[in-house]
Amino acid sequence: MTPESHASTGTDTSLPGPPPGCPAHGLGPGGLHRLHESEDLAGLYEQLRKEHGPVAPVLLHDDVPIWIVLGHAENLHMVRSPTQFCRDSRIWTPLRDGLVKPDHPLMPHIAWQPIASHAEGDEHKRLRGAVQGAISTIDFRSLRRYINRSTQAIVNRFCEQGEADLVGQFAEHLPMAVMCEILGMPDEYNDRLVESARDALKGTKTAIASHSYVMDVLSRLTVRRRAQPEEDLASFLITHPARLTDDEVREHLRLVLFAAYEATTNLLSNVLLTVLIDPRFRAQLNGGQMTVPEAVEQSLWNEPPFSTVFAYFAKQETELGGQRIRRGDGLLFAPLPANVDPRVRPDLKASMQGNRSHLAFGGGPHECPGQDIGRSIADVGVDALLMRLPDVELDCDEDELRWTASIASRHLVALPVAFAPKPPQDVTETPNHNHVPTQRSDWQIGITQPQPQPQPQPVPAAAQPQPAPAQPQPDPVPPQARPVAEEPARRKGVWQRFLSWWRGY
Ligand code: HEM
Repeated sequence: MTPESHASTGTDTSLPGPPPGCPAHGLGPGGLHRLHESEDLAGLYEQLRKEHGPVAPVLLHDDVPIWIVLGHAENLHMVRSPTQFCRDSRIWTPLRDGLVKPDHPLMPHIAWQPIASHAEGDEHKRLRGAVQGAISTIDFRSLRRYINRSTQAIVNRFCEQGEADLVGQFAEHLPMAVMCEILGMPDEYNDRLVESARDALKGTKTAIASHSYVMDVLSRLTVRRRAQPEEDLASFLITHPARLTDDEVREHLRLVLFAAYEATTNLLSNVLLTVLIDPRFRAQLNGGQMTVPEAVEQSLWNEPPFSTVFAYFAKQETELGGQRIRRGDGLLFAPLPANVDPRVRPDLKASMQGNRSHLAFGGGPHECPGQDIGRSIADVGVDALLMRLPDVELDCDEDELRWTASIASRHLVALPVAFAPKPPQDVTETPNHNHVPTQRSDWQIGITQPQPQPQPQPVPAAAQPQPAPAQPQPDPVPPQARPVAEEPARRKGVWQRFLSWWRGY
């Protein structure tokens, strides 16, 4: 996109910027909004939708112009039209014209790399084919069992304390533990890898060193599996008929690890927050009307883990959402505003139960190939955590929660919770929920509520969240790992047996 192409939207590029303190702060040349200066991107997207319709001109750092695609249909059209739009930044006019400097903060997203996300046509088919082929070898029942065991192991680290930060101690750990297993390096999962990945994604001063640490781990894995393939994603990438080089293998392991880690961490945090604070979820989950997978899907609609994806580029002059798009223009693919487009969601409070047409996983040829893994980690992780801590409650006021936000994503900083201390569970045994004192329908999820007053009218018990009697947890068994089943387990009913088979644990 060239600066003058914004002028075609009717804005005046000759206007000077606002003086300091002016309410127009956040506006750049031509009165265009600077996305990186906004403190409320979701609000800004709605304002832009009103001002410009489904496609709006905006500015990135250094006042680099780009379009943001706000409409659901327009985003879908863009990602599904590879003849008109591609992901190859080398054709982006501001980059070709030198407007985007090498030290641009978005350069890690902007710089073209020989990976599936940036490739097109036959090369995209070759690279993506290898990733998708490797993912297709995953046995999801074993994966779900592994996710459950990892959840138990992670919960064991804090369950005796009666309090935890579910972002720092859970959501940032589970996806890394699972991805290390999937890639073929379960022994590499540790706090240092989690911290390095987080640091590399945050773009701090130590981000480059942290990124190098992760890349060293992936390089060692590539060398090991090239020498001796096993049954894991790294080995299937190496032995795939696409004949990836070692560099390509390493780069795709990085792509998979970082894409999966950041997005799934955000998804887990968002789902946990939702079930803790949203009375609709609480009532529905407690009443058995809404399952965890449905809560996950609703969260993908409301708070997609990637708010925008940088970027698509116009291969030819075209029109999108009433805007004239020139060859070489850049466009942000934007699941966050697309998912709340009033044309697909006239009532944002209405449940999207059963509807998976959100854009959290993208669409078209680049649609996320790992979405079922992301969903499984969130479904099983949240389900298993709630089984272990059925009385979990938010341990701060909702307005004390803090987020870090960038144009690409929003990340909950911490999610403090409290619960009655629990003994650790033996994760080496076949998982079994006999130790859990209450049934799933009695989950007590939410902020500490005042004791409910007697209801004037009789209400069916199942329709109401029941406050948990604050049970002390006398436990004669020492807190180290102990056998799970303390009493002979009763034979499960047909439905329970089916559920266990379906969940894989
Ligand atoms: C909640 C979890 C996840 C979310 C929300 C998510 C979202 C996305 C999105 C929005 C894209 C870009 C689509 C586009 O450009 O149109 C993408 C691409 C990709 N994702 Fe995911 N992802 C998740 C988990 C995963 C996992 C678990 C893996 C791997 C195991 C993965 C691997 C990839 C890869 C390889 C691509 C590039 C595909 C291509 O360009 O052809 N993602 N993902």
